[in-house]
Amino acid sequence: MSPTPSRPRPPRLRSAALSVLAVCAALAALLLGAGAPPAAAASSLPCDVYGAAGTPCVAAHSLVRALYSSYNGPLYQVQRARDGAKKDVRLLSAGGYADAAAQDTFCSGTTCIVTEIYDQSPRHNDLTVEGAGGAGAADVGAPADALPVTAGGHQVYGLEISAGMGYRDNSTSGVAVNGQAEGMYMVTSGTHVNNRCCFDYGNAETNNLDTGNGHMDAINFGTECWFAPCYGQGPWVQADLENGLFQSDAGYSRNTYNTGTGPMPFVTALLKNNGQNHFALKYANAQSGGLTTTYSGGEPTAGGYSPMHQEGAIVLGTGGDNSNGSIGSFFEGVMTAGIPTDAADNAVQAGIVSVGYGGPTGSTGSLTPGSEISLRATTSCCTTEYVRHQNDAAVISPVASGSSALDRNDATWIVRRGLADASCVSFESRNYPGDFLRHFDFRLRRQPMDGTAQFRADATFCPQTGRSGAGTSFASYNYPTRYLRHYDHDVYIAGNGGSNAWDAGASWSDDVSWAVSSPWAP
Ligand code: AHR
Ligand code: AHR
Repeated sequence: MSPTPSRPRPPRLRSAALSVLAVCAALAALLLGAGAPPAAAASSLPCDVYGAAGTPCVAAHSLVRALYSSYNGPLYQVQRARDGAKKDVRLLSAGGYADAAAQDTFCSGTTCIVTEIYDQSPRHNDLTVEGAGGAGAADVGAPADALPVTAGGHQVYGLEISAGMGYRDNSTSGVAVNGQAEGMYMVTSGTHVNNRCCFDYGNAETNNLDTGNGHMDAINFGTECWFAPCYGQGPWVQADLENGLFQSDAGYSRNTYNTGTGPMPFVTALLKNNGQNHFALKYANAQSGGLTTTYSGGEPTAGGYSPMHQEGAIVLGTGGDNSNGSIGSFFEGVMTAGIPTDAADNAVQAGIVSVGYGGPTGSTGSLTPGSEISLRATTSCCTTEYVRHQNDAAVISPVASGSSALDRNDATWIVRRGLADASCVSFESRNYPGDFLRHFDFRLRRQPMDGTAQFRADATFCPQTGRSGAGTSFASYNYPTRYLRHYDHDVYIAGNGGSNAWDAGASWSDDVSWAVSSPWAP
């Protein structure tokens, strides 16, 4: 069955026949196990693959790309602060990537939030900003420009969720309910996580309340260990099945195989659940390699999970009861009717890798937005030292071709249009997507963009000819007499002869003059 790429929304439909089909598909998948590979072309997009495997998408959300090769509708809607006007962000071509430049033009000189994420599946299970729930006040929309990334060689935006943000659809079509089988995955990031409840994508309650065990079936990703002990540092791909984030059925979470992804910039997180007596969790590096299964076994043994009692709402960024203390990143995700084959999952992961999330932008060594750079100190003490982040703070330290990949990545920044002023620049971390160099208490650090005017100002720097006469100096947007400076190998915004130690006049003009260099990251 091919998707209907057109709008407007057709009448909603949840027919008994479809439910029966879904159960049959799930049973078939179970019986066949890892069966035959899907009859899908190499260029097939995730929902083409799952459709060909007999487990069609019933939800397909992305701010980045089409998830069907025939899809040519809108991806998401943004609303700008200046006049409240709204705009759909569409694709550059059918089956292609987001037209992020259209968003940039529409939001120029003001700020935008994401107000809706369209479902590309024929079910039209569109997500809007989530309302109040049992454990959280109504959410707000995520800033539309907080997570600029490269995908398919294009500059696009992901969705960066801070606490108090979330999306939902409580009236869906085709999504599993009451013990029906389903699968789902999302591409997220291991660098923007916390241990608060609950960065989820998947099936949840239709009333924003915790209605009991088994009423959710969503992928959870973060460092929240609900049932101790958990192993490793996380973040973990877990199943939020309501009243718990599960990694297995043994003591709920005891799963020595699940030690977390670490700070991987792009992660594929996958959950499938037959709704009766079996669920499985997988993860992968979304930039390379294949999926690893951390669990495939019985449902949790406590009452209410076997069979499951899913209600069929879709949540993104919060728990089922709108617990909204969590943070996270979302690039794309789908939900299927029935349990996909492992072969289909593998084909989808291969397709995700081929997207080249976070790949090189193709432009290096200049201050043009999109270019990747490293910033070298020019003071005679320190001409082999570059601005890098280390333990979240910005320092200068020696980097060379023999340095570790981590050191070289930490010392690489992607130039972005200034978050507070497009004629200036901001610096996004190469290996922490959505994190920017910003000052706080005059010290420079790497932090996730939270969309506030304060953050935007603190992360914006206006380039000018180096104050020493060499290279480039960067004036702070909100403290324009202060410049990006290294002092004692830490990085500050510093005035020339102010009251702080780092404002010292000696070697100030050299310390604030930088060589904009080719990026160290591979
Ligand atoms: O299951 C974990 C969380 O518990 C759910 O997301 C939420 O509804 C409840 O607070
Ligand atoms: O870095 C100076 C100021 O410190 C920043 O503008 C603000 O975020 C913090 O109070």
